[in-house]
This record gives sequence, structure tokens and C-alpha cells, in this order.
Amino acid sequence: MRKNIYADLINMKKGNEKIAMITCYDASMSKLFSVSSVDILLVGDTLGMVKLGYENTLSVTIDDMIHHTKAVKRGNKGGKIIVTDMSYKTYEDNPREAVINAKKLMDAGADAVKVEGGLEILPSIKEILKAGIPVMGHLGLLPQSVEKTGGFKVQCRDKESIKKLHDDSLILQDAGVFSIVFECIPENVAKDVVSKLDVPVIGIGAGRYCDGQVLVSDDMLGMFEDFTPKFVKKYANLSKTIKEAVNLYAAEVKNGKFPKEENTYK
Ligand code: KIV
Repeated sequence: MRKNIYADLINMKKGNEKIAMITCYDASMSKLFSVSSVDILLVGDTLGMVKLGYENTLSVTIDDMIHHTKAVKRGNKGGKIIVTDMSYKTYEDNPREAVINAKKLMDAGADAVKVEGGLEILPSIKEILKAGIPVMGHLGLLPQSVEKTGGFKVQCRDKESIKKLHDDSLILQDAGVFSIVFECIPENVAKDVVSKLDVPVIGIGAGRYCDGQVLVSDDMLGMFEDFTPKFVKKYANLSKTIKEAVNLYAAEVKNGKFPKEENTYK
């Protein structure tokens, strides 16, 4: 059954019910997250960094996104909304190609796609929406543009960029996106723009006044150790748990404590 993403999320905003989104990249995590109380599973292109070992998201391909969306869909026993990122250079400059690629992600199991940018990518957003595919926007820090914008930095520090955030948010809302991610934006700036929008805003490093929050699962579970942005709260320290478990296993293999009789077949 196709979910009514628009109505569900707008009603949550109207009712002041916060939206919880988390990134998810494979079936085993999808099985766990989809029976939790999160609302949305985001197959983010952060998978390039946290799962595929790239430095940023630019090397992630549409085939990677399809592969991981299919896995998340298979594990989604709880029937959560699945949003998949359109990967770099698969939608920005060519609206016709944007629709073809968005359809591939929908066929893989996504309920909606997410794209980075405002006015610059409006023709592609309009075309994807015209094809009946729900779109989530993404403004502020745009990880697919880090090479142009000089790295992972807090955005909207000057009047011009604050105005652009405001204008782009209204442009996306008028175009018909069902929600927008705000990434790395000072809290007071995000608060002001959020209060002027009907469409729900899901923040990551954008403060407390967004309509929802998203975190990268590997960050909040304490599995990604390369760097931790200030906005991350670690709800677990799984890298420590995993290292301890694997070391104990290796030690027990070497000292003969594993396997025991109960682990063997008669
Ligand atoms: O790719 C991703 O995980 C994202 C989040 C950072 C919002 O876009």
C-alpha cells in the first residue's frame, strides 16, 4: 500500500509531533529500525563515507543507491517510509535524466527521493514531482557540493546566505516537496525559517526548533570513528562493544575456549 507521506508529515507538523528520521543502509539494520518508533528510514548517500570507505559522498553511484535501497526495503518489516538520496550528478543538470534515475530508486523500494539544492535544481525537482514521485529537499550544508563550498562547515553565517535559505525554502515548498532537510544551520536562523513554512523541516545540526531531526545511524550508534560533528549525540558506543567482542572471540579461538562442546554437532 502506498503511504500518504504528504498528509502524514504535514499532520505531524500541525500537531507539533516531532519527526524522527535515521539513516539506514542495509537489511539487518532496517529490520531493527523499522520496528522502532522512528518515522522515516533515509537511505542516505552518507553510505559512501560510513559504509563504502570514501572521503565524501561524491563517489556514490545510482547503482549503489539502488543496491542499498533494495536491501533496506527487504528489511523494512515495520513498513516505515523509505526516502533515498539521489546520488551526485544523477539529477542536478538534466531533468529528464533526473526522472529516469528517480524512477529507478522508486522501483528499488523507495517511497520518495531526496535531492540537494534550491533554485539551481528546480527544473529537475519539478519534473520528478510531475512524474508523481514525492521529493524531500535538502538545504544548508550540501554534502554533494563540499568541493565547491570548501568543506563541511556551518552555513548561513551572512545575510546573503540566510536570504538564500529563506528563498530556496519557499521555492521548494511552492514546488511541492513534502519536507526539507536543513543541515548545519545556526539555530536562530533555522527557527525563523521553519516558523514561516507549512512544509515540515527535518534538521541535522540545525537546532531544536525544526519539525524533526535526522542523524546518521553510524554516528549516533557510535560506530563511525573518523570524526564526530558537534551536532551528533552518541546514544551507544557500538565500536567499543564490537572491538571487545571480536577480540574476545579471537582470543578464545587461539586459547581453545571456543568452540565448546555445546557449539559442536554430535
Ligand atoms: O546522506 C545522508 O545521510 C543525509 C543526511 C546527512 C541528512 O543526507
